[in-house]
Amino acid sequence: MASRAVIAGVGGYLPKRIVSNDELSRTIDTTDDWIQERTGIKQRHIAGPTETCAFMGARAAAAALADAGCGPGDVDAIILATATPDQAFPATALRVQAELGIARGFGFDVSAACSGFIYALAIADAMVRGGQATGVLVIGSEVYSRIMNWADRGTCVLFGDGAGAVFVRPGTDQDGTRGILSTHLHAQGTLGDLLYVDGAVGRPERSGHLVMNGREIFRHAVAKLAAVVDEALRANGLIHADIDWLVPHQANRRIIDAMGRKLGLSAERVVVTVDRHANTSAASVPLALAEACGDGRIKRGNLVVMEALGGGMTWGSALVRF
Ligand code: COA
Repeated sequence: MASRAVIAGVGGYLPKRIVSNDELSRTIDTTDDWIQERTGIKQRHIAGPTETCAFMGARAAAAALADAGCGPGDVDAIILATATPDQAFPATALRVQAELGIARGFGFDVSAACSGFIYALAIADAMVRGGQATGVLVIGSEVYSRIMNWADRGTCVLFGDGAGAVFVRPGTDQDGTRGILSTHLHAQGTLGDLLYVDGAVGRPERSGHLVMNGREIFRHAVAKLAAVVDEALRANGLIHADIDWLVPHQANRRIIDAMGRKLGLSAERVVVTVDRHANTSAASVPLALAEACGDGRIKRGNLVVMEALGGGMTWGSALVRF
């Protein structure tokens, strides 16, 4: 059997500027209390003009490489998940390749909205196990501040900017049971109108703003995320009690808490960044992972389940032994 793919390093980047709920309440009809009670969000990072999708992705990727004890010469593929690329093409992944001085291999972007990182990780896992790549940077980088309708209080309070990355390599003999155990992807295009961006370069007459039916998304999120985590456990003959850490997509504290309860996990076993990062879409899971690995909560040998759901509708999970 081909050896498992291993997450060898993690990294993140957050824009310098922090915007509090109180600051938002000066320009739209909202309050810190409403936002915190409904979402758990206290603040978000907002990118400045030079903090582009490629800039942030490259910084997160460089941090992941350093964490793995590797350098640009060890990379032969870059898969970058984003809904907010700097340009229609070249792929942002290739801007990152140039920025990091990586001279070989290939790269491309993945469009799966908030599930983008899980999709990108699934592709990296398959490519590494199939022998097509030996060092894959998997990046989620997003500047949702550029697609917000800043007059729509129902959406603009929910999102933030940032980037997260992991470096995926083939496991060695010493790695034993370590690595990506399985990934599980789903999509339902008939639900595409629940969360979308109204236009793109092909439809420039549209607003280009994010549009969302929050209540419906909420309803689908808890049911579908719980099911896709159970699917991952079942595929590996594991049960809820085997999970050491849940690293969920960071959209809303209430969705995250509901997931923790469904899985029977105490709050200490759930990684939460939504209070400080808000929803950074494809960057949210790798940013949360980078935080929990960086501060020593996630340790070698821990079983970690990641999940995400987003526009498409897309959703998925990944089960990883660190
Ligand atoms: N500040 C104050 N009031 C607000 C507000 C804000 N920022 N945003 C909406 N409201 C108001 C609404 O206008 C509505 O007022 P009305 O009853 O007078 O019409 C009221 O609050 C309730 O709105 P509703 O949309 O029903 O609130 P909710 O409890 O469903 O919470 C969300 C809204 C968006 C927080 C919630 O639906 C949610 O988190 N959904 C999931 C979104 C998500 O995860 N998206 C990303 C997926 S990747």
